[in-house]
Amino acid sequence: MAITNTPTWQTLATHAASLRQRHLRELFAADEQRFSRFSRRQDGLVLDYSKQRIDADTHRLLLDLAAAADIDGWRRKMLAGETINHTEGRAVHHIALRAGDAAPAEVRAVLERMRDCCENIHGGIWRGWTGQRITDVVNIGIGGSDLGPRMAARALAAWQQPDLRVHFVANVDGADIAPLLARLDPRTTLFIIASKTFTTQETLINAGTARAWLLAAAGDADDAVAKHFIAISTARERTRQFGIADANVFEFWDWVGGRFSLWSAIGLSLALAVGWRQFAALLAGARSMDEHFASAPAADNLPLTLALLSLWNTHFLGARSAAVLPYSQSLEKLPAYLQQLEMESNGKQTDRAGQPLSGVPCPIVWGEPGTNGQHSFYQLLHQGGQIVACDFIALAASDFPLAGHHRPLLANCLAQSAALAFGQTAAEVRAAGVAEALLPYKLFPGNQPSTTLVLPALNAHTLGQLLALYEHKTFCLGVLWNINSFDQWGVELGKTLAGRIEPLLAAAGDDSAFDASTRGLLTLLRQS
Ligand code: F6P
Repeated sequence: MAITNTPTWQTLATHAASLRQRHLRELFAADEQRFSRFSRRQDGLVLDYSKQRIDADTHRLLLDLAAAADIDGWRRKMLAGETINHTEGRAVHHIALRAGDAAPAEVRAVLERMRDCCENIHGGIWRGWTGQRITDVVNIGIGGSDLGPRMAARALAAWQQPDLRVHFVANVDGADIAPLLARLDPRTTLFIIASKTFTTQETLINAGTARAWLLAAAGDADDAVAKHFIAISTARERTRQFGIADANVFEFWDWVGGRFSLWSAIGLSLALAVGWRQFAALLAGARSMDEHFASAPAADNLPLTLALLSLWNTHFLGARSAAVLPYSQSLEKLPAYLQQLEMESNGKQTDRAGQPLSGVPCPIVWGEPGTNGQHSFYQLLHQGGQIVACDFIALAASDFPLAGHHRPLLANCLAQSAALAFGQTAAEVRAAGVAEALLPYKLFPGNQPSTTLVLPALNAHTLGQLLALYEHKTFCLGVLWNINSFDQWGVELGKTLAGRIEPLLAAAGDDSAFDASTRGLLTLLRQS
């Protein structure tokens, strides 16, 4: 039965109608214990969801909803690596990648090869075709083969290895790779071609450009590609066709979804950037969250809580937009990473049985680090008349402790979540002595729902926890809506059309299958 047809859903709908009339000011005034009631601690993390527009009944009903969706059953299946990606006939088992000693032998074997590779490159044992050591690594990949390591390498910049720079290229736009190659030395540059399928257009074009650039410098040195190219892929035949020796191929498996693949060999560029110990700590942090997700009761389960709140906000409060607001410059790439994780997983219209959904499962995810966003879009959050669910992320201790910086950063984070929740009334504006003519402009309605997640510090362990938290949240939200969070058919149509359009950009041809707009633009942009 669709979740929207369950008796609990109907009860929640009635409950929501009355709760929508209540302001967060009122909810806080009614419950002295609100912070302790609606916050949880887990292995150093603190999740404060007391500024969500819920009360004890909401919480209880949402938990009933989770039970009705059989969260326990689906979680068991996911943790056991069952074939729950039914439209692609694939198992889902990314948690096996970070299972430590309990990981399958094939996973441990690849992790060992990755560690050796890091040691060889950091230790100067791996040399280029001229015998020089590697100074620059370029990860070429897109989507899940880019966003995870790119985001995490940025997040863990405090652990950046000396003498090795790691770069990321994703876009097929030459403006991505060209300026980078212009400042690199082919004799000391190593390329990692990261692609699960090894068919992705952007990645193969960029990889071809990189190979041509290398060979233009290396001439007929026949070991140039072997010494400067690594592939990470599930598609051994295709990596061979590209000319990458098997010894330089790090495999992963079709039971690892692209957006869940940071923990696999896809993380090699990250491990090179920050060192093997940090990569191992990242896996351990994720494992800690996996264990929590597997065993914590529903009422204390952090990923499930985030998923239930997302459903509540999106469906019952009408928040179609969810902002990720890390008060950490190091987490600046987190919103982009979560966009793929959440929107590619749950941006769906069909349930597992192929039936249309009767609600919107995934809000639009976006965000920027604080405090920068405060000087940009926060105006809309405060007075724009739209409900936006906000996830604040704060670090108790700074990863770059510079005198005079961290306290103002934290003060701004707390100030914003309080201002969004409680706003500013006419009485308060008047009490501040504001002229009556300006009063309407100075009102802040408040009642904007938010969660604040506090990390004790940003390091590889807490980053692993944070990312696994959002992974499992994404999974739970998919279960609540009975959708398959592990396929992404919505990306296919554009790829197919691009394949048909590209020849028409090179030369005029039969474009009658296309609409007048596309034909007009083709004529305008044709490059002959
Ligand atoms: O186009 C979407 C997608 O398939 C993502 O799911 C994936 O992360 C990305 O493309 C890259 O795919 P690949 O790793 O196979 O190159």
